Amino acid sequence: MSEYQIINIGLLATPQGSSALSGEPQGKIRLIKNAAIGVKNGKITYVGEMEDAARASNVIDAAGRLVTPGLVDAHTHLVFGGFRQHELGLKLAGASYLEILQSGGGILSTVEATRAASYDELYTKGAAFLDEMLNHGTTTVEIKSGYGLDLETELKQLRVINDLAKSYNVVPTFLGAHAVPTDFSKSPDSFVDLVVNEMLPVVASQKLAKYCDIFCEKSVFNIGQSRRVLKAAKALGLGVKIHADEIVSMGGAGLAAELGAVSADHLLESGDEDLAAMAQAGTIAVLLPATSFYLNKGYARARDMINKNVPVAVASDFNPGSSPSYNMQFVLNLACLKLRLTPAEALTAATLNAAAAIGLADTKGSLEVGKDADIAVWDCPDLNFLFYRYGNNQAYKIFAQGDDSQRSTPLN
Ligand code: NIG
Ligand code: FE
Repeated sequence: MSEYQIINIGLLATPQGSSALSGEPQGKIRLIKNAAIGVKNGKITYVGEMEDAARASNVIDAAGRLVTPGLVDAHTHLVFGGFRQHELGLKLAGASYLEILQSGGGILSTVEATRAASYDELYTKGAAFLDEMLNHGTTTVEIKSGYGLDLETELKQLRVINDLAKSYNVVPTFLGAHAVPTDFSKSPDSFVDLVVNEMLPVVASQKLAKYCDIFCEKSVFNIGQSRRVLKAAKALGLGVKIHADEIVSMGGAGLAAELGAVSADHLLESGDEDLAAMAQAGTIAVLLPATSFYLNKGYARARDMINKNVPVAVASDFNPGSSPSYNMQFVLNLACLKLRLTPAEALTAATLNAAAAIGLADTKGSLEVGKDADIAVWDCPDLNFLFYRYGNNQAYKIFAQGDDSQRSTPLN
């Protein structure tokens, strides 16, 4: 069906605009009761009260349900070999995330598995995740490389991500500096040389990534190394992002502001000055509460960020080590209960602000005429319900660019 209307929407909830919202506006969303949405050729043609909508011949009855924009997951590592369930025992025995990494496990064990995996295995596994994510209401996904740490495997991952982007709404990010590979452990700077001199030029010339990211963290990459990689990426025309201040306060958020990064992600330990710099620069805070949950750590200071006018987004961080779930509904539960965002702020965080964090706010992230018809119908009577229940899948029908060919979830 190329033209249709979704009718009998009990409540339509959406942020508005084509750039990230911060401060009070982040919590000011449009709410319409008894609404309808018109769709034609994958674009939204009408959003408003049902009684004002033109009559349509093809209708889909939402039967009083809640409708929001499709969720945008602005930070994932979903193309990887293997899983890391063996780390559960290590975690329970008290090993920390960085201890597991330093002993050659963690990211480095996924690097081995990803190097060993074929292109086809990675593609099939990635596509299955994206299908499941659609079934949970996520219509756009950023995916990072970073489990290759050598040119060949980074390119294999990026090709998988770019090929997935032909069938799904996917944004590719190059994260060659995700960890120092074992054979460079004595000279991390020479690995940075490799990323800057050999990997980045190929990634940029083959247009395999929109963004470059780096894991700026104690005993991973320091501020100087991060500045060097990201400046080189910018010079080649890539946008930049940073895994910043996740475990130790390193000034990564300040570096993000200095470089005009589109986002700084994690930010559990960021200081006030760096947050103020982010607000000034318009750098979006991509918060990853499911990672805090899984690593049993504290949560980012989202309320302070809202008060300081830093635009806040949330994402799953889906990866086999620190966040083995892609469920953005759970991320929204945590956004309310742990980050203390209001439902309206959390909705903006997982839609418009998340779209802005991957450069797509002009086409995605809100239900407005002219934008892509990425629409989530939830089996919920109102907005609070979506954030209040957890653990079950509340997605009822999901449209990605107007297409609802995904399986719909049975009723609760
Ligand atoms: O964002 N912190 C670094 N990268 C990921 C974890 C990746 C992994 O453990 O495999 C993160 O948490
Ligand atoms: Fe991450």
